[in-house]
Amino acid sequence: MNVLISNWSSVQSLPESYIFPPERRPGTYIIPSSKDIPLIDLENINGPERALIAQQIVKACQNFGLFQVINHGVSRELMDQTMKVFKEFFASPAEFKAIFYSNDLNSSCRLYTSTLNYENEKIHYWRDNLTHRCHPLEDHIDCWPEDPHYRKVVGEYSIEVKKFLLTILELICDGMGLERGYFKGELIKNQLISVNHHIPCPDPSLTLGMQAHCDPNLISILQQGNVCGLQALKDGQWIGVEPLPDSFVVIPGLQLRVISNGKLKSVVHRVVTDSKKSRTTIGTFLIPSNDILIRPADALLGSPDKPMYHGYTYKEFFSTFIGNNCEAERALECFKL
Ligand code: OGA
Ligand code: NI
Repeated sequence: MNVLISNWSSVQSLPESYIFPPERRPGTYIIPSSKDIPLIDLENINGPERALIAQQIVKACQNFGLFQVINHGVSRELMDQTMKVFKEFFASPAEFKAIFYSNDLNSSCRLYTSTLNYENEKIHYWRDNLTHRCHPLEDHIDCWPEDPHYRKVVGEYSIEVKKFLLTILELICDGMGLERGYFKGELIKNQLISVNHHIPCPDPSLTLGMQAHCDPNLISILQQGNVCGLQALKDGQWIGVEPLPDSFVVIPGLQLRVISNGKLKSVVHRVVTDSKKSRTTIGTFLIPSNDILIRPADALLGSPDKPMYHGYTYKEFFSTFIGNNCEAERALECFKL
């Protein structure tokens, strides 16, 4: 259990097993700037501005593949309480956390460090992660940490963020000319909460909190807290995604890219560490069921738009993604027509 960084009390220098070779180090990066990151305000989505907001979202997905959202409907109080609950989880005694430690992708509540491949990887990422399923709540809540307060707060949070995710998907449908309700049932069957925790790092220039990746699922949202760390790749440059108070970051996943026939992007992103502050982020992922067929939506095809990908099941995609070392482009290549 000493592998979990959240169990380390003080670290004076970066252990060698966290030092990446020079070409994989974060190096210098632009100081976080929110000017380049699209910001969407959902305050007026039920008024005449709805169509305009839908267009802004689609444009952000087309040009950037990531955006931030304010006035999303999840209360500040619930966001703060949930963040507090997760910080408390990572601060809890090693013996308590040991109950949840698992590198098994299929375990319903898993706490691990770096990646699920910790045992075999040469260099580790500077993060601990807690992931569990949360929809439908009654099927999964018994696997969560057995603390009534945790279950109450995280349960409520799961429901509220799901509503927000469905609103975003509906706006994407509106903005793209897909029928409302296209994203339903098996396409959004699974909901995961994935919490990253990084303790202060003795030398952020040498290591990473999370590797550069695209999210393989349908769509993700992220509650960043107030510590910088998330970076997105835009035109070959890493840009810091500045944490804005009471906001969520929305990241379209690779399945949205395929369903939109390549029209919507899924940004490459990574996490750098901070030398002074610990950082906790709450990710929520919507994921298709294993056996559902994913393919470009018919409504988006027709001359001159030929389908770019052939259909596949999410299970096939995910194993191809893992088999290709989580490299999005290589995985997608296997499904291109
Ligand atoms: C993720 C992710 C970013 C962060 O969990 O897929 O990209 O800042 N997280 O924690
Ligand atoms: Ni991600």
